[in-house]
Amino acid sequence: MRLILITGTPGVGKTVTCRFVKKRLKIPFIDLNQLALNKNLTLGYDKKRNCFIADFDTISKEVQEEIRQLKSETVIVDGHYAVQVVNTEMTKIAFVLRCDPNVLEYRLRKRGYSERKIAENIMAEILGVCLNDVVNCFDPKKVYQIDVTRLSPLKVATKIIDKLENKTLKSEVIDWMEKIIEDDNVKLLFKYEKILSTTS
Ligand SMILES: Nc1ncnc2c1ncn2[C@@H]1O[C@H](COP(=O)(O)OP(=O)(O)OP(=O)(O)O)[C@@H](O)[C@H]1O
Ligand SMILES: [Mg+2]
Repeated sequence: MRLILITGTPGVGKTVTCRFVKKRLKIPFIDLNQLALNKNLTLGYDKKRNCFIADFDTISKEVQEEIRQLKSETVIVDGHYAVQVVNTEMTKIAFVLRCDPNVLEYRLRKRGYSERKIAENIMAEILGVCLNDVVNCFDPKKVYQIDVTRLSPLKVATKIIDKLENKTLKSEVIDWMEKIIEDDNVKLLFKYEKILSTTS
């Protein structure tokens, strides 16, 4: 049994990508958001953030159980907190999808997220929070970042499949902070910072 993690900030396209990988490789995937909601594995509702608070302990137990029931040699786990709820010793590889903050903002806005929730997620993407979570708990050599900004979900899935089939895929080096400074766009950071400090 081996696990493949697909992680990244909400809205980067994990679930749409996983659907293509599942279709092509016939590998099942567990969508952690769906799992938590369907089985009510939450600690309640966070009104400030407009979302359910995930209960990592119960989600972790449920993921183990789902994996056992799937009876598949390989299972994909899709979620921005995947690394926190899986057994990392069973994990073969982790893909971190990264998306340009401007494009991500557009996608989150289309989802109808509040200004605060958009700002929180964009700041998390700029700071590489999901990437840090993964490299802190898992062998960094098995972590692959993919910049999905200009790729269709099918193209992203193809890159993942190529890597899983042992073709060469080098992890990309993605640093949105550096790009923001290069583009002389530091005002973008102030914009989100202001939203975070003035909204509750
Ligand atoms: N590569 C892409 N190009 C264009 N649109 C995309 C791409 N990937 C995802 N999208 C769109 O962005 C939205 C978010 O995608 P998706 O639900 O897969 O994100 P997610 O990473 O699974 O988010 P969450 O962590 O909240 O589950 C969807 O409307 C999807 O169609
Ligand atoms: Mg999803």
